[in-house]
Order: sequence, then C-alpha cells, then structure tokens
Amino acid sequence: MKLKKQLIALTLMATAGTGAWAADPVKIGLVLPMSGPFASYGKQIEHGVKLYLATQGDTFGGRKVELIVKDDSPGTAGDVSKRLAQELVIKDKVDILAGFGLTPSAFAVAPLATEAKKPMIVMNAATSAVTTKSNYIVRTSMTLPQNSAPIASWAAKNKIKKVFTLVADYGPGHDAEGQFKKTFTAAGGTIVGEVRAPVKNPDFAPFLQKIKDTKPDAVFLFLPPGGETIAFMKGFKERGLSAAGIQLISTGDLPDEDILEALGDSALGLITAFHYSEAHKSPENKAYTDAYYKAYPKDRPNFMSVGGYDGMRLIAEVLKKTNGNTDADKFIEAARGMKWTSPRGPVSIDPATRDIVQNIYIRKTEKVNGKLQNVEFEHVADFKDPGKQ
Ligand code: PHB
Repeated sequence: MKLKKQLIALTLMATAGTGAWAADPVKIGLVLPMSGPFASYGKQIEHGVKLYLATQGDTFGGRKVELIVKDDSPGTAGDVSKRLAQELVIKDKVDILAGFGLTPSAFAVAPLATEAKKPMIVMNAATSAVTTKSNYIVRTSMTLPQNSAPIASWAAKNKIKKVFTLVADYGPGHDAEGQFKKTFTAAGGTIVGEVRAPVKNPDFAPFLQKIKDTKPDAVFLFLPPGGETIAFMKGFKERGLSAAGIQLISTGDLPDEDILEALGDSALGLITAFHYSEAHKSPENKAYTDAYYKAYPKDRPNFMSVGGYDGMRLIAEVLKKTNGNTDADKFIEAARGMKWTSPRGPVSIDPATRDIVQNIYIRKTEKVNGKLQNVEFEHVADFKDPGKQ
C-alpha cells in the first residue's frame, strides 16, 4: 500500500508542469539530406548533433534525447521534406523538428511546425526569410546576407571597384546577390554584370566567358557547396580568369572544409567572409576540433557540423530551463536571447527574430602546416542578419 502511494506521488512529481511523463525521452526528428548531391550536409550536421551528445551527455532537464533521422535527399524537393516531417510528427510522435540542410526543405516544413506546434531548429538552411515562416523556428547557422555584407564592405575597402556577381538561382543565392549589391554600391562600388546559375547541373562555360569579356576586378560568388563549386573553380582556372587577374571573393561556403581538399591549390588566396573556420583560434574550437577528429577521423569539421552542434546545445539548454518541457511556446520563449560561446566564437539568439547573432570573420585560404585552411584576419563583431532590416 505504502509502495503504491509512493509510486503515485512520484508519477505526479514527474509529470507536474510538463504535461508528459518526465521519464519519456525527448524525440528529435532530424530532416536531413543523407544521400544524393548534398549528402555531406546531412553527414556534417548529424556529426555535430551526435558530438554534442557524446561529449556533454544525452539527458537534459530530466529527459533523455532520442534522435530519429529522415533522409530528405536531394534536400531541394520541398514535398519530400514535408512528407517526412509529417511522418515524424504523426507516426514517430517527435517533440522537436530539427536539421534542414537546404532552404526549400526549411520553407516546406515551416507551416507544419506552426500547425503541429513543434519547435523547429534550423541547423543550416540560410535564406534570411526562413525564420519568418513560423514563430516556432530558431536558427543556429547563419544567413547569406549576414556573410555577404561584410565581404562587400571588405571588397570596397580593398581597391575592388567593379564586381560581377554569380549566384545559384534560389533563395540563398538571391539573398547573397541582393545584399552584396546593396552594401557594395552604397560603398561606391559598381556591379558590372550578374548571373543566376541553375542549382542543378549548371554549365558554367558561357558564364565564365561572359565574366572574362566583362573584365571585372572581382567575381562575387555564392553556390551551395558540392560538386558544382568544384566545377566552377576548375573552370575559373582553366578558362584563364585567375590568370587575367580577376579576383574571386565569396561567402565561406565556397572553400568549406568538407570540400577544401577537393578544391586543392585552386583555393589558395581566396578571400571569404564566414562565421566558422576550422582554423578559428579559441579554446572552445580547439576542444571541438579535437573531439571531432577523435570521433570522425576521416572528415573535417565545418560550418554545418557546428550548426548541428550548436543546435543540439540550444535544445539541451532550453530543456534544462524548462525542466524537460518541449511545449513550442515555452521552448521558443526560453530560446530567445540565449547566449553562449560556440566553437565559432560568441553567439546569441536575437530575441526579436529568433536568428543567430555572431561574429563574421574575413579569411584568406592558405596552407597551414601543409593543410588548406581559411585563416581569419579581421572580423565584424556581434553581427545581426541585415536581411531583416
Ligand atoms: C541553403 O539552401 O539554404 C544553403 C545551402 C548551402 C549553404 C548555404 C545555404 O552553404
């Protein structure tokens, strides 16, 4: 009898304020491209999420975390991502939706997060407008305008007067192009040409010829990292654009650590703006990269892995604050204004937009101890997404 009473009391204590049996795991549904052309995005984000759990423990606010991964390859088909997210909510009964490698995937799932009242943690997709598509979205990656404005300012200050822009023809490319133009022309620069290349299988040859004929001081580029980036870099060299003295500038997606070895020495001298570099000098990044290489010796830590690591950290810290309660309104309230030191440097969640505020570093691709690295040499501190202003 006494035992029964104790059990009832325990149950009441455990469920008080949570609306759920507190010992239930928190189920996180990760929607990620795990195969196909953007498989490295899924791999890196999953690496980051799992590394957080492996190094920091897997129970927060009294609840153990359980991951369910769904492959939304190719990552650019919104209907696929939406169907998988629906399955996660209805069949798997997840508490939190997370992941999202590419913008079309995040856009397609946002209305579901609102409808089903699930917190949605965006760990990569970087079109500025993503966080405006549901009040339950928090982003731990970056936005394209956040990285494009600083590289435009750097170019204007460094004798680059005429720029040709080339971007992938979808959300992040349009954002990168728009912000670069705005910042660069306001600083006195001129845009001498612009091209939007198809996201899938673009033929860069005619674009490269046009750029060469236009003779700009520099080309500003955004392409989602992968096979296309490697093809572009190859063409840039083979068609004599670098020999003609045309400088290549871009957001840091281009010399991403995951494809840096494949780009090879053609990446040397690239100037880029980005929120994360493997070469970032801080104790937090040293601990992160050491743990990463121990867990995944065949891969290199990159910005997507850090987006996943910090996304998992945000979930963990929110669970601690809410004692394991994943109610979407309470979750988002707890996430607003959260601050921490990421492997990338100091970061916070903008209470108004639920987007990440962070340092943006200007880097040069160099060989460090025989290995290609993006070496940071200046930065803009605590930079908010200018795409929302
Ligand atoms: C996106 O689709 O939002 C995206 C993909 C790759 C990037 C950045 C943004 O590097």
